[in-house]
Amino acid sequence: MPRHFLSTADWSRDELESLIEEALAFKRGERRDRPLTDRSVALVFFNPSLRTRASMQLAVNQLGGYPIVLEPGSTSWTIEYAEGAVMDRDRTEHVAEFVGVLGRYCAAIGVRVFPALKDWREERADPIIGAFARRSPVPIINLESAMHHPCQALADMTTIRERLGAGKRRVSLVWVWHPKPLPMAVPNSFALAAAQLGHELTIAHPPGYELDDELVRELNMLAHDHGTRVRISNEIEDAFDGAQVIYAKSWGSRMFYGMAEEEREMRAAYRRWIVDVKLMSRTDDAIFMHCLPVRRNVEVTDDVLDSPASAVLDEAENRLHAQKAIIARVCEREAR
Ligand code: CP
Repeated sequence: MPRHFLSTADWSRDELESLIEEALAFKRGERRDRPLTDRSVALVFFNPSLRTRASMQLAVNQLGGYPIVLEPGSTSWTIEYAEGAVMDRDRTEHVAEFVGVLGRYCAAIGVRVFPALKDWREERADPIIGAFARRSPVPIINLESAMHHPCQALADMTTIRERLGAGKRRVSLVWVWHPKPLPMAVPNSFALAAAQLGHELTIAHPPGYELDDELVRELNMLAHDHGTRVRISNEIEDAFDGAQVIYAKSWGSRMFYGMAEEEREMRAAYRRWIVDVKLMSRTDDAIFMHCLPVRRNVEVTDDVLDSPASAVLDEAENRLHAQKAIIARVCEREAR
């Protein structure tokens, strides 16, 4: 079976630490090898992207390989995922052949597939990227699925290491207001990776915006293993007091999953959940992080985003280096 990169949960702390070291070695120019020479990586985008698309294409290229970008339903055929499907409707190609063919051309396949935000119970199981992983003869790299964005999380952990050095840090994930309900992949993966690496994690969100129960149980177990605990608060200020890292992100409510209009009224009550200088002044000189794209003066004020505390462009740059480390690792295993 190929070793996929679907969630950081499938990789040990030591493996994540070594990927971070390799990402920083690529960034510092200490690692310049081109393990993908004469090889290709397919990048399958069901959804828009700036950072992921550009940094993955560059990463493959800088490792000596050739990136093939495909957009199912646009630049490639529509895909059926269900096993045993009778394909007499609008979907043209089964994922079995899609990944089977790409597996003959490519050393790995990156996939971005957002949730439809319709049915929480179905989408929390990440069925589409799961179908890719089950059928693929080569490693699947998750470029953001319904539940996880592990490439972003590894870049974020690399950024924390780079800015603040090694060791346990007081890290806060803070929900911020956004005009639309957004998926949970980024907050899930950030919280998970922070807990895996032993950081002290505080999560602040309004009531009704709880993260997935199973994920929270996993976070608590990881924190317990590291001799710490996860603090969860419904007060935004609690995320800031004494924090060394503020990670801002909006996500939708599971209570109203698939019912954006119904959620609107509840969400409207939390418009004050925005990161500003006053809140940042409560921290221990924290860095400000966000995966981008960010809505200025809605999620965070200009003066925070444009301040030296802001690490958002470092995070975006580190996507490139972290993904080079990930691609090199999964493809190195395939080459043996
Ligand atoms: N952070 C992130 O994944 O950005 P894109 O959606 O632009 O790829």
